Amino acid sequence: MKRVRKAVLPVAGLGTRILPAAKTTPKNLLNVFDRPILAHVVAEGRAAGIEHFVFIVGRGQGAIEDYFDHGFELEAQLAAKGKSDILADVRADLSDPGAMSFVRQMAPLGLGHAVWCARDVVGDEAFAVMLPDMLMDADPPALAQAMAAYEAVGGNIVVVEPAPPGEAHKYGIVSLGAEAAGFDGRLNAMTGMVEKPPPGTEPSNLFISGRYVLQPGVFDLLGAHRAGAGGEIQLTDAMLALLADQPFHALEYRGVTHDCGDKLGLLRANVAFALKDLGCGGEVRAAIEGLLDS
Ligand code: G1P
Repeated sequence: MKRVRKAVLPVAGLGTRILPAAKTTPKNLLNVFDRPILAHVVAEGRAAGIEHFVFIVGRGQGAIEDYFDHGFELEAQLAAKGKSDILADVRADLSDPGAMSFVRQMAPLGLGHAVWCARDVVGDEAFAVMLPDMLMDADPPALAQAMAAYEAVGGNIVVVEPAPPGEAHKYGIVSLGAEAAGFDGRLNAMTGMVEKPPPGTEPSNLFISGRYVLQPGVFDLLGAHRAGAGGEIQLTDAMLALLADQPFHALEYRGVTHDCGDKLGLLRANVAFALKDLGCGGEVRAAIEGLLDS
C-alpha cells in the first residue's frame, strides 16, 4: 500500500457564522491561542506524514499563501533585534518549497466541488481531506489515527464522532456494519451515509467530522457535478456512490473537536488550546477564574 502524501484543505468558504471577524481575514486564518487555525491543522497533517498540502481557495485569500511563505521584512527585523525565539516560532509554520499548492475554486458550489478542484494536483493516488474549520485536539493527532486505520484496512476512511443530541441533521451521517479487528470497536465498515438527513430520519448519531482518507476514484464521481442537499455538490454523495465499489470504514477517533466555523466553537478552541499550553496553562486558568469572579 502506497503512503498517503497529499492532503486537500477546502478553505474557500465565506465564514458566514463568524462574520464580521472573517470579513477581511480568511476564516481559517483566525487565531486559536498562538497561531491561525490553519497552522494547527497543517501541523496535524505533517504529524500524520502529509508532504503536500492542496488548499482550495477563493478570491481574496492570498493571505493564506503569504502566511506559509517567508515574511522577509518581518524575519529580518526579528533577527536584527535578537528575537530568536519569536523568529523560530514564526518560521516553524513555513512550507517547504514546492510542498503547497493553491487552487481557486472559482464558484461556491459545495464541498464536493471544492475537493474535485484538487483532482489534477492529487492525481491517481489515495489522499487525505482535512476540513480546517474542525480543529481536532487529539494525541495521536486525528489524521494520524485515520492513517493507522487506513494502514490496517485500506480502502477509504471517514473520521466520525457522536453528534450532540438533536444536531445530527446538520451533518453527514454514517450507517455502520461489521467491526474491524484491533480498534476497540471504534473502526467499522460503513454500509451507507447521508448528507444532512431530515430530523428524525438519521440512520445513526455518528457524524462525519472532518478528516478523510479517500481513493482517487471519488474524483470521477464528483465530476458528474450532481447537486445534493442544499443544492450543493456534496462529497458525501460521491462517497456513497463509491461505496458501491470500494470499502469504506468509519473511525470514531479519540479526541475533542472544536468547530471553529462558529463563534462559540472558536472561543472554546482558544480557551482549550490556551489551557493545555504547558507554558501558561496556570496563568490562563487564573485569568479565567478572575473573570468569572468579577
Ligand atoms: C460538511 C460535510 C458534512 C460534515 C461537516 C462537518 O458539511 O458535508 O458531511 O459532517 O462538513 O463539519 P458543512 O459543514 O460544509 O455543511
